[in-house]
Amino acid sequence: MTTAVGTPTLARTRAELDAALRAPSTGAAQARHARAVVMTMGALHAGHLSLVRHARTLADRVVVTIFVNPLQFGAGEDLSRYPRDLEGDLALLTGPGLLGPDDVVFAPEPDVVYPGGDPVVRVSAGALGESFEGAIRPGHFDGVLTVVLKLLHLTRPDVALFGRKDAQQLVAVRRMVRDLDVPVEVVGVPLVRDDDGVALSSRNAYLSPDERHRARGLSQALRAGEQAAGGGTGAVLTAAREALAAAGVTDVDYVALVDPDDFAPVPDDHAGEAVLALAARVGTTRLIDNTSVTLGGEA
Ligand code: PAJ
Repeated sequence: MTTAVGTPTLARTRAELDAALRAPSTGAAQARHARAVVMTMGALHAGHLSLVRHARTLADRVVVTIFVNPLQFGAGEDLSRYPRDLEGDLALLTGPGLLGPDDVVFAPEPDVVYPGGDPVVRVSAGALGESFEGAIRPGHFDGVLTVVLKLLHLTRPDVALFGRKDAQQLVAVRRMVRDLDVPVEVVGVPLVRDDDGVALSSRNAYLSPDERHRARGLSQALRAGEQAAGGGTGAVLTAAREALAAAGVTDVDYVALVDPDDFAPVPDDHAGEAVLALAARVGTTRLIDNTSVTLGGEA
């Protein structure tokens, strides 16, 4: 693993980004790929940094984008209060094993990404945009895929890394890359949790101490589901729902077992790998979490 010495280039405009990407890299990492991208909305935490660390092992130059994408927020969602801390983010990104002088942080304002205002032509997530996260947040995945495609065009990476924390997003990005022949390799990175089991998320900053305690119910439900895997899909879903209720998490959007490749619900007699995914509100904060389970096939 390389230890970064020196700071990455901060690009705020398209011209600065192009200049930074054109600058020769020292190639010190001697990695498999020339360029990797990690896209984020900032308010960085150890989950984001694990993507960057992983990218660092794959590519000579790592580009981290920091952009709170208005297009993927619905009316009444948290766009205006989403945490923003560019200085704090830059300090975290220059930690050991992370970004160095060959690397680039692209932190544009909305008018840099969308110079013509809201885009008229957008990417559609199709049916993937209508289930689970997409059902509760209409238009969310269209907004995500549109900005992901734009940021891929702007940063032109060989490899793009996404966290398994947002499992449906990862499936949607993979599907877009396949369906639209986007020339990039997509890599999924494992979900990072806090010591108390809560999945790291920028939105955890909204939780009061009491809500933070209750938020543990989501990962407890996943663990209960994993332990019930021998009993089949029904047993897994029941165990997860009961654990949520026991933890006082009552405002639940969904608890589901889905196919890791297309996020479609698995049949009752499913045998093999599945993703146990759930979403719930704790106070006013909406949280999502998931884990991988292997089912034996008993209904
Ligand atoms: P954001 O929520 O900031 O997440 C950026 C990336 O970090 C995503 O790939 C997400 O899955 C990953 N990530 C977040 N928390 C994680 C955790 N606890 N463990 C592992 N990975 C984690 O996802 C988005 O931003 C946006 O939708 C974006 C793709 C940037 C498009 O705007």
